[in-house]
Amino acid sequence: MEQAVDQLTRAEIYKLMNCMIVPRPIAWVTTISETGLVNLAPYSTFNIICYNPPLVGINMAHNTDGSRKDSARNAIATGELVVHIADETQVDALHASAYPHPPEVSEPELLGLPLEPGVDVSVPWLRDAPLALECRLKQSIQFGPTSDFIVAELVRIHSRDGLINDNKIDSKELRPLSRLAGPVYGAIGPVIVKSPAG
Ligand SMILES: Cc1cc2nc3c(=O)[nH]c(=O)nc-3n(C[C@H](O)[C@H](O)[C@H](O)COP(=O)(O)O)c2cc1C
Repeated sequence: MEQAVDQLTRAEIYKLMNCMIVPRPIAWVTTISETGLVNLAPYSTFNIICYNPPLVGINMAHNTDGSRKDSARNAIATGELVVHIADETQVDALHASAYPHPPEVSEPELLGLPLEPGVDVSVPWLRDAPLALECRLKQSIQFGPTSDFIVAELVRIHSRDGLINDNKIDSKELRPLSRLAGPVYGAIGPVIVKSPAG
């Protein structure tokens, strides 16, 4: 079977890309509104885009009414965000934080997730996440009319005690969640370790 992408609708392309390009890491993002409300939401169009400078990229699509999602609006307005990596035990909270609440609802408060104050940014971070990466907005790029690609620079790393050893993390200790499609998540299964290539 083969399909010409320009013959597919936007909804069909979304569905296909969502389950073809997997597993995807998930950025669990806190931001703060201009009135000081802390927002939390998961984003899986997320990855490293550069090591030097240390940049990550997240695609934040607009809401169906054309407005920016709270995370994008806040990150662009304040220039700050915190990207968390969740572990398998946090799947219920992470999934619940994707519910499209209005901007005046603070998901960490609603879900009872404790926060710690940011050090380099004014955005608080989730105390129970194994990794919290304080970031400053580097750039926001619009690839089309309905999404913002958020480029963020890492400025501080908070990690669970004992997780980082010699600047390395054992995935079996981190047990990161990944996304496999709509509401379908992946957990760490067998891990394959090879000797370095080349
Ligand atoms: C696991 C997961 C990953 C998601 N990834 C994205 C994404 O990459 N881009 C996006 O625009 N929405 C994504 N969403 C949907 C947003 O989380 C959802 O629209 C959320 O309500 C946005 O919240 P906000 O308006 O508070 O930022 C994802 C949802 C889930 C459950």
